[in-house]
Amino acid sequence: MARLDPHSYTDSSHPLAKHVALTLYFDFAANTIHGSALLTLPSAHTGHLLLDTRLLLVHSVIDPVSGAPIPFSFPSSDDPVFGRPLSLSLSAQSAALVVFSTSPSSSALQWLSPAQTASKAYPFVYTQCQSIHARSIFPCQDTPAARLTFSARLNLPSPLTAVMAAARAADTRDPIAGEAGPACSDALWCSPGRAVEEFVMDRPIPAYLFAFAAGCIASRDVGPRTRVHAEGGLVLLDAAAREFAGAEDMIRAGEALFGPYEWGRFDLLVLPPSFPYGGMENPMMVFLTPTVIKGDASGAQVVAHELAHSWTGNLITNKTNEHFWLNEGFTTYAERRIVEVVQGEERAVLNTGIGWKGLNEEMERFADNMEFTKLKPNLEGIDPDEVYSQVPYEKGFQFLWRIERQIGRLAFDVFVKKYIATFKFQSIDTETFLEFLKVNVPGIENQIDLKLWVEGTGIPPDAMEPVSTIYSKIVSLANEFKQGKIPKEEEVADWSGQEWELYIENLPKSVEASQVASLDARYQLAESRDYEVKVAFLQLAVSSGCKEYHGEVESTLKQVGRMKYLRPLYTALVHGTGDEEKMLARRIFAEARDSYHPIAQGVVQSILAKHS
Ligand code: BES
Ligand code: ZN
Repeated sequence: MARLDPHSYTDSSHPLAKHVALTLYFDFAANTIHGSALLTLPSAHTGHLLLDTRLLLVHSVIDPVSGAPIPFSFPSSDDPVFGRPLSLSLSAQSAALVVFSTSPSSSALQWLSPAQTASKAYPFVYTQCQSIHARSIFPCQDTPAARLTFSARLNLPSPLTAVMAAARAADTRDPIAGEAGPACSDALWCSPGRAVEEFVMDRPIPAYLFAFAAGCIASRDVGPRTRVHAEGGLVLLDAAAREFAGAEDMIRAGEALFGPYEWGRFDLLVLPPSFPYGGMENPMMVFLTPTVIKGDASGAQVVAHELAHSWTGNLITNKTNEHFWLNEGFTTYAERRIVEVVQGEERAVLNTGIGWKGLNEEMERFADNMEFTKLKPNLEGIDPDEVYSQVPYEKGFQFLWRIERQIGRLAFDVFVKKYIATFKFQSIDTETFLEFLKVNVPGIENQIDLKLWVEGTGIPPDAMEPVSTIYSKIVSLANEFKQGKIPKEEEVADWSGQEWELYIENLPKSVEASQVASLDARYQLAESRDYEVKVAFLQLAVSSGCKEYHGEVESTLKQVGRMKYLRPLYTALVHGTGDEEKMLARRIFAEARDSYHPIAQGVVQSILAKHS
C-alpha cells in the first residue's frame, strides 16, 4: 500500500478508473445532491479499491452487472482537509456503482439562495474542485495523476438550466422513470417540474477539472467556438460579451504558439461575485469572476491565462500538487505569450512586472517557511489551499523564461510545441520535464543550475526583473512617493488599472496616513471600478492606519468573494495597529461568511485564527 499522491488516498497498486457515469438529483431546498457514480476500471480487479470522499454519505455500493451489493467500509474518519477513503472490496469486478448524497457543507459546492443571486428569484449552485474538492461531490480518485472521461445526467427543477465543463449530449428533456436507478426514487426524479440535462466529456481529464453550474443562466455567442454564459442578467451578459469579444483571436494566437486547440469549444461562464478565484480553467468552459469585467477589455489577461491552461494544465497536468508549477508556471508563461500577441509587448512586460513584485512578496510571506518558496515543495500533510501562492506561477514563469533566454526564443518555441505534443493527455512530474529538457536541449544542465531552480528556496540569482520604459517609469514614480511626491496628472494620463496596480504595489507597505489621503484625493483609488486597484489601495490604507477607509473595506469584503481580494484585506486588518481592526475583521467575516464559497470561508477563517 503506497499513496501515489500526498493529497489522495488513491493506492498506487490499485487500477485507476477510466470512466465515471454520474446521475445527480439537485435538491435546492436541502442544498444537497443525491446521486450515483458508476466507476469503470480498465479491467477486472480483485481486492480493495480506495476512493476519496469528503463529507459524503454513502448509501450503498452495487455491482452494476449482477445487481449484488459490493462490500464497502470507511477505514478512517473524515479529515477536514483530506476527507476519508471509501474502501470497496471487489472480486473480479471492473465496475462499481456508488450511491451517495453530498453534504450541505460540501467544500466544492456553493449553494446560493435566490436572495444571493442577481435574478433574486432562482437559486444557484456551482462547483470549484481544484485542488482537492471533487471528492466532496462524488467518490473518485481525486488525484491529478488519474484521468478519466465522464458522462453526467442532471435532474433539476425547471426553469433552472445547467451548464458543464463538458459537451451537451442532449436537449433538456423530461425525466424518465427508472433511469436514475438506485440514485433516486422515481417519485423524486419524475416529480412535476423536473427536467433532465445530459453532458459528456470524452477526453480524459483529472477530477479537479470536473465542473458544473445550475441556475438562471443566460447566454450569448461571441465567437465561432465561444459562448458567454452568466447568471447576472442581460446587462452583465452585454458587458461580458463586449469584454470577451477577443476570445477567438486569443485561441488562434494560442494555436499558433502551442499547437491545435484540442477541446472543441471554449465557452466562458461568468459566476456570481462570490466565485473564489479570478478564473478556473474548466475544460470547454472556463469559469470567471465578474470582477474581470471592467469595461476596458482588461479581463483579457485572465481569459488568456485560463485559455493557456487548455495546453499547459488540461492537456499536460501535474502528477500531484507538488508539481503544481508545471501547471501554473507554464500557464503564466503561455498566458504572457498570448497577451504579447493580442495586446502587445508592453502589456506582457507589465504583467511580468506585477508578477515579479508578487513573487518577491511571497518570499516575505514565507520567510519562516522557506519550503513553500521551492518550485517543487514537500506538501505531505499540507492543505494546498492554505499554501496557495504566487510561487508556482511566478517562479515557474521565471524558470521557463530563463531557459528561453538561454536558448533563444525560436528554439524555445520549438521545444514547447514538442513538449506539448509529447505529453498531451498525460499527468507528469518535474523529473519528467527535466529529463525531456535535457534530452532536447543538450548541455542545458551546464548552463543553468536546474537543481537550484527546482529544489532551492528563494529566488535564484539568474531570475530577472523585466525591463521596459513604462515598467521602469512606474517603479521609479513609486519610489519617489517616499519623498512625498505624488505622480502628476500628465504622468498617469494613459494609465489603466494594471499601471495603477503596479504603482500601488511598489509603494512602501505602510506610509503616512496623510499621504494615502492625498493620493486618493487626487485619483479616487478607493472608488476605482477596478478591484485590483481598489483592493491594492485599500490594503495600503489599512496598513497605514487610515481608519476612514474602514467603511469601503467593509463594503468591498461584502461585495466580492474572490480570495485574491479577501486575503490581503483580511490580512491587513488582522495585522492592524490596534484591536479595532482585528475586531472589525471578525465582525465583517461573521456577517459576510455566508456569502463566501466554502473554500474562501476556510481561508479567511485560517487568517483570523492565526491572529486571535
Ligand atoms: N487554476 C487556477 C485557479 C486555482 C488554483 C484554483 C489552485 C484552485 C487551486 C487558475 O488558472 C488561476 O490561476 N487563476 C488566477 C488567474 C490569474 C493568474 C490570471 C486567479 O484566480 O487569480
Ligand atoms: Zn492558472
